[in-house]
Amino acid sequence: MNRLTSLPAAIAALTMLLASTASAADFRLGLITPPQHIWTEAAEGFAADLAEATDGAHTVTTFPAQQLGNEAEMMQQLQTGALDMAFLTVAEVSNRVPDFGAFYAPFLATDLDHAGRILQSDLAARMLEDLPGKAGVVGIGYGMAGLRQIATKGEVSSAADLKGKKLRITPFKPILDFYNLLGAAPTPMPLPAVYDALANGQVNAIDMDAEPIWKLKYYEQADTVIVSNHMMFPMVGLVSAKVWKVMSEQDRALIAKLMKARLDECVATYIVKDAEWLEQVRGTGTAFLEVGPEFFGDVPAEWDKIWSQQSAVLGEMRDVAADTAE
Ligand code: BEZ
Repeated sequence: MNRLTSLPAAIAALTMLLASTASAADFRLGLITPPQHIWTEAAEGFAADLAEATDGAHTVTTFPAQQLGNEAEMMQQLQTGALDMAFLTVAEVSNRVPDFGAFYAPFLATDLDHAGRILQSDLAARMLEDLPGKAGVVGIGYGMAGLRQIATKGEVSSAADLKGKKLRITPFKPILDFYNLLGAAPTPMPLPAVYDALANGQVNAIDMDAEPIWKLKYYEQADTVIVSNHMMFPMVGLVSAKVWKVMSEQDRALIAKLMKARLDECVATYIVKDAEWLEQVRGTGTAFLEVGPEFFGDVPAEWDKIWSQQSAVLGEMRDVAADTAE
């Protein structure tokens, strides 16, 4: 190649280099779950996928275990653009957009397969579309944790045994209403505080799914697990709307595709693993009390009465659940 023919090629190469440098970004993604949790693994998987797909031009640094603050604080950071991305409980989203409370309708999903189908519904997708306007975040898709159980100190044989018990809940209103209706003393507390609170007697029961009961060894501090499957527990992958606004169309499409794939994988993992974790807990000798909706008396119906006033989509959500049940 002589000098004249190599010049355009050199300019083209330089232009490509400048373009890729200009759009390179290191995103920060926050979440409250500890390193060994499936949500954290999903976030790390997404970070690896994005780095690989962009030859390292886009990277994601993950901040698990509430390093950037609790979920309410991370939501605020997403809104101001101080945080780029987060995997948050839908519980936190429902504190800002009460329609999302409908996902916590007691006994909405009969099992995790069913929960996965509810999360794939048109209604669930439509609800994500409201998020930029109502909460300043873009919802990429849903993940989830296992169905909710109750681990308690001491023996329990009926719901009456839960009356007045200081029972840890995730900080959000639908679950607060559920346990208030039951006559327990619900105590809002984020996930990272749970082990110590149970160990030092600040609470004597917890609302939780099987994964942390097993992996974070909550079973060591509990005598009974009430296997009630009383609620599903969705998660949502979010990008700050401010950050999204300045991304190229190409970056948005790539990030949405890769994050959604890891969220889908997260849902599929719980469908398989949740029962295994529960069996591992059972294997420790912890007492199991397997119950159905009747254990909670009229609480589920009373909950629906309250939440049909708070969430405009509760009726539709119950219809989706009925249509997707097997
Ligand atoms: C909880 O608050 O119980 C929770 C939060 C995130 C993942 C799993 C459980």
